[in-house]
Amino acid sequence: MMSSTTDITSFFIIFVLVSLLWIYLKAKTYTIPNSPPQVPYIVPWIGHGISFTLRRETLMKSCHAQFGPIYQLLVAGQKITVVSSPELLADLVGKSPKQVHAPEENLLQATSGLQSRLPYITMILRRNIYGIISRRLTKSTMGPITVPINQRLYTMLNNFGNQHDGATIHLGELIQQSMYQASVSVLFGDSLPDTYTHFHKLDQWMYYGVSHIPVMHHLVQMMHNKWATAILPYINKHWESDDDTGYIDGASTFMSECLQELKSAGLNAKETSHVIIGVLWGFHAQSIQVATNAIAFLISNPIYCAQLATQIRTTIDKNWPDFETFLIAEPEALDSPGFEQVQSVVNETLRLSSLATVFRIPDIDIELVHKGHRYTIQQGDYIAGDAYSLHHDKTFYPNPEEFDGDRFLNKPPNNQARGFRTFVPWGGGTFICKGREFGEYQVKMTIIQLLYLYDVSGSFTTGIACLKPNRSLSISRLQSVPLIHLQKWKY
Ligand code: HEM
Repeated sequence: MMSSTTDITSFFIIFVLVSLLWIYLKAKTYTIPNSPPQVPYIVPWIGHGISFTLRRETLMKSCHAQFGPIYQLLVAGQKITVVSSPELLADLVGKSPKQVHAPEENLLQATSGLQSRLPYITMILRRNIYGIISRRLTKSTMGPITVPINQRLYTMLNNFGNQHDGATIHLGELIQQSMYQASVSVLFGDSLPDTYTHFHKLDQWMYYGVSHIPVMHHLVQMMHNKWATAILPYINKHWESDDDTGYIDGASTFMSECLQELKSAGLNAKETSHVIIGVLWGFHAQSIQVATNAIAFLISNPIYCAQLATQIRTTIDKNWPDFETFLIAEPEALDSPGFEQVQSVVNETLRLSSLATVFRIPDIDIELVHKGHRYTIQQGDYIAGDAYSLHHDKTFYPNPEEFDGDRFLNKPPNNQARGFRTFVPWGGGTFICKGREFGEYQVKMTIIQLLYLYDVSGSFTTGIACLKPNRSLSISRLQSVPLIHLQKWKY
């Protein structure tokens, strides 16, 4: 009797195990017709989750080498199709908002720390706030913001190296603090408390917040809450005021309009302070990282850097009576031929530092075309545009690992291959970066001011090896941020 019960139990266990194995193998081998090649994985559901979180660019680099410009990963039960050819990226960003959407709610949650009403607040941002950014931050309209930012940036940068024998400073601190504080004081006015430390800390940890790593995610949420609490009194003051003209004393028209829209849309003061954190981070993090990387690349190449400084100084001294007059020039002034080399340096820095920059989620099954082959991507799967692999493809960029400041000099801005763009640091299509003209201007202006004011030097080795793409969000950080020596040019 005993033995027959044991037999039945053993049989049952074996049956369950065999069935599970069959289901697992079936799920692993089943692919949708015409779907992109699937990168093999070992553990079901988790798939490539660990390497996607901890070694994302290394994973994408090796998958690109093995599977080409389109392949599929499995990350914690979610399929992610990665694309990196100019043709596939053009096809992807060309999809209409009826076919695809960007993962905005996730991004808002990660950057602002908001926990509730995400769909509604995301809609308000898209409908009302992005419109203000697009209207107020184009080259022809952003002058009222850029001029005072230029002047404050000048005051800050100028103060750093006042000693006769110059000063040696941490490059990150120099660029991050100056750019952030100059811009925030102009956007919000001086009554907003200084939140540079909050920004700096959160920026260091944002990657882990976005990646939803359990304990770290919780720490990032605490940082969000601290930052939101610091700006809450500022927001409260305007939320409690009956003045609905929309203009906030000392703040820019741009930011007054944004806050007024959020108030009219029924966001409470706490929600608004979280949204403002997301805005502050989005406004500054990437531009600051690009400017920091660009200066690091330049100081690693002293001869090129000195030649660029001469070019900048000659252009300013020839076209403006003095530096202060240059600072109040229209934003288009930075498009003058004398600054083409600065533009090339910024593009080259973006080329080397941009990671996966475009994310879309199809709302219906869609097709992506590569060399006549049609790939089906299912509704709800993620698609990531891997700018890093495209920007490091030697077919388009010889010696792609090297920093070549003049690489984009005298080249069409969008470097084309068979009609498709090979340079996509700002994404594209409906969801293209809304602050690209402002962001690019900020980076260019910071480089110009620094190299006009100072002879800069430092010990740094350039090239791809100096970047740390694996734990960075959309712009690669430096492996180690160097010290920079500042020596006043005109003493
Ligand atoms: C060097 C600095 C910057 C870089 C490299 C950058 C890059 C990007 C990229 C790659 C995207 C995704 C585009 C896509 O999905 O097709 C994006 C989106 C966005 N960026 Fe930027 N950005 C920068 C600075 C800024 C600044 C300064 C602002 C605000 C003033 C801004 C506002 C936005 C907004 C609102 C979106 C979402 C657009 C949408 O979903 O419609 N960005 N950015």
